[in-house]
Amino acid sequence: MAIKQIYLTEQVPADHLLGTFLDDSHYDTLIAEDCDIYKPIYRKKGDTANDGEQNLLLKFRRNVFSPELVKCAYGGLKEAAQASQNRGIAAGPRTEKSTGRDWVTLIQEKLLDVLSGTASTIDSSDPIQDVYDKYESDSSQVGPRGSVWMTQKRPTGFDCNEWVHKTKKLSAAERTKEVEQVYDWISDTSYANPVNSGIAGYFDRYPRIPYCRTTAYTAANTQSFESAIPFIEAVSDQFKALIPGRYEAQKEAMAHLDSSFRVGNSVYTTITVNKTYRTAAHRDAGDLAEGFGNLTCTWDGVRGWEGAYLVFPAFRCAVNVRPGDMLAMDVHEIHGNTPIHSENGDHERISIVCYMREKMANCKSKAYEEARYRFVETRRLDKTRSEWFDKWNGVSTGMWDTDEWYKFLLDNGLHEYANAMNTKKAVNAGLDI
Ligand SMILES: [Fe+2]
Repeated sequence: MAIKQIYLTEQVPADHLLGTFLDDSHYDTLIAEDCDIYKPIYRKKGDTANDGEQNLLLKFRRNVFSPELVKCAYGGLKEAAQASQNRGIAAGPRTEKSTGRDWVTLIQEKLLDVLSGTASTIDSSDPIQDVYDKYESDSSQVGPRGSVWMTQKRPTGFDCNEWVHKTKKLSAAERTKEVEQVYDWISDTSYANPVNSGIAGYFDRYPRIPYCRTTAYTAANTQSFESAIPFIEAVSDQFKALIPGRYEAQKEAMAHLDSSFRVGNSVYTTITVNKTYRTAAHRDAGDLAEGFGNLTCTWDGVRGWEGAYLVFPAFRCAVNVRPGDMLAMDVHEIHGNTPIHSENGDHERISIVCYMREKMANCKSKAYEEARYRFVETRRLDKTRSEWFDKWNGVSTGMWDTDEWYKFLLDNGLHEYANAMNTKKAVNAGLDI
């Protein structure tokens, strides 16, 4: 039987729903059988791609993974979803008020995202101004990550707007240093609603953990994680069959990575696992732009659930993803779940999102990234250092340009990388080499 094809002709505004819970009022069509859905066509100027994958919203296939594979996904990944307070707006509206805390506001978070290069700034000549235009009217709103300023670290009199004004004029390298410094004044503690969510596989560097690494779950549960690999590879095969163009783009990006950062033979670096987690309306971030999100779910075979439909409110449709099903979807469109329920209230839904983290492309060899980790740890534990303070994470501005790091690379037999540092220094100094 031919797969049902839906070519949408319109979409409705949905940005105002971000961070709120969705329900049955946010969709008209519920997809529960094989189906492809295409967004309304509106091309950007100069965009000539016309391969059908360009405007794809989702492809859904029922029951493509065997019960054995679904079971191996459950056994290998369920424990990756641990209580987490770090999921930002997907965790839903915060219930507590920000009394007595110096919250990082929404506008401050957005400005930091732009300055650190983690925000999407496509089609914008002045992304900083865009943030002010968009969020200034609501400048007291707390950011979705629910972080707070650490007043004991942040210099007295620090003026964020003044700092942004000064920092945006700096070179990319100097800007990175400035942003790292400011991130260091923000508390790790997040006050978003706690949810059961976690990551498996591998993760990229970010300012406070500046090395690519195996996630804590995978490092501590290697055997268990490996038992899920046949399932993850089967998801990757489905991706290939359903969306070959985007699969090839992701495969090509993965080919440049050290194979130690690849999950089995799949095109994924990272797996997000959520347990009975009703996400509020959100867009995903951090995945490869040319790739595509791959979502599946699993269960223990006993504690079934109803609901938890994945709604795309801008397109007025929702998908009922059940164990064994495959949903390839544009995760950059706003999406979230309807309530999860069961007759006796005892249910467990494990959802699994497989993707390539875009910034993993910056990871060098496993040996090099491990050396970065050891370097950070050596510094963190060395109380004789002038930078040392209780709970210091070992990271400081400019540490990767120091002679100390250069020597560390040599001592660890990583001459190639030490030489690259020399070359960079010579180029920066304008030497002709
Ligand atoms: Fe998502």
